[in-house]
Amino acid sequence: MKTGVAIIGAGPAGLLLGHLLKRQGIDCVIVERRSADYVLSRIRAGVLETVTTDLMRQLGIDARLNAEGLIEGGFNLADGERLIRIDIRALTGRNVTVYGQTEVTRDLMEAAPARGLEIIYEAGEVALHDIESQRPSVTFIKDDVEQRIEADFIAGCDGFHGPSRKAIPASRAREFEREYPFGWLGILADVPPCHPELIYSNGPRGFALASMRSATRSRYYIQVPLTERLDEWPGERLWDELALRFDSISEHGVTRGAALEISIAPLRSYVFETMRHGRLFLAGDAAHIVPPTGAKGLNLAASDVAYLADALVAHYAQGDDAALGAYEAKALARIWKAERFSWYLTKLMHRFPEDGSFEQRMQIAELDYVASSEAMQRVIAENYVGLPL
Ligand code: APR
Ligand code: PHB
Repeated sequence: MKTGVAIIGAGPAGLLLGHLLKRQGIDCVIVERRSADYVLSRIRAGVLETVTTDLMRQLGIDARLNAEGLIEGGFNLADGERLIRIDIRALTGRNVTVYGQTEVTRDLMEAAPARGLEIIYEAGEVALHDIESQRPSVTFIKDDVEQRIEADFIAGCDGFHGPSRKAIPASRAREFEREYPFGWLGILADVPPCHPELIYSNGPRGFALASMRSATRSRYYIQVPLTERLDEWPGERLWDELALRFDSISEHGVTRGAALEISIAPLRSYVFETMRHGRLFLAGDAAHIVPPTGAKGLNLAASDVAYLADALVAHYAQGDDAALGAYEAKALARIWKAERFSWYLTKLMHRFPEDGSFEQRMQIAELDYVASSEAMQRVIAENYVGLPL
């Protein structure tokens, strides 16, 4: 098989890139290790910046997003006792949209056949070849038969564990990493949210987040030690804990219900430089990870592929490779700022086991300063709503 761009991975990055390229008449194929159902079973963050919603609108894949997305003009930080509302609409003139990443993925997946975007699911042993040559290729096993896609370019959109990043020689790369000494225990349930807007809380019992998917579906998280196991958290214990953290500060208090999903995820900050080697370009989680505080992961994947799609269009339409050459620098400039913001919000809102009383007072002082300073609120708002492309 021959194509223009072989895309590895059908997460949000690969699917968005595929649609953006197809729309410009650029030939591409997506190769995905898992089944479509498996990809849709992954529950992830749910706050979209305008960068992401604008892309969905440009693509015309926005019917459900427009109908079901919750437009949010603000969110809250809490210090355990009070809510500090960050009025993002007043401070930036923009909003965020609460719409699950799983739904973004579903919409992009479902739009693929009608637009002629080919996705090969359940492709085993995906491997990259000759990325330093003019004619790279991707091989994989599908239904026990090895297949090869010869391409002009390979887009590595295969997430943190995929093979693309590993195909870049170590001598060409630098890794930057920060692991956090805790994880997030998350629960999804069909109960009304405790508050009309998100609350990120740093109280005496540690970090907690009250989020939502709709007026009838809530998403909550609490900070837990990395050693914690799910069987230590029966539903009642988790709801008790959430009630302790949110009942006194939220509008409606916590409503309990059966868990649709419950899981623990570690927190990590990670950047891999370089994002390009020969004819391989990395985008999304393949090149960088942010902790979920601030929900930047999907939005960064979206800005990466917006830059990459524009650069590939310039190559195919005008024979101009300047933008391909500039892709990495452009993407990294935005990535590092989102890394900074999600690290900052993580530091501000969590209890770190190594922190003493001084660091705790620093958090309290900072939250107090945020509460009293419009300048501080503006800094947080403009990062939360998303920096310009
Ligand atoms: N071969 C083919 N596909 C692979 C392989 C492989 N060997 N390894 C992984 N993949 C697929 C995964 O199954 C997944 O569907 O690549 C896809 C990567 O998708 P994501 O992990 O969702 O990453 P990305 O598309 O960059 O999206 C970034 O997703 O991880 C979240 O929070 C993160 O919001 C961020 C967003
Ligand atoms: C979520 O709704 O899952 C969510 C929201 C905001 C975050 C992280 C996750 O920062």
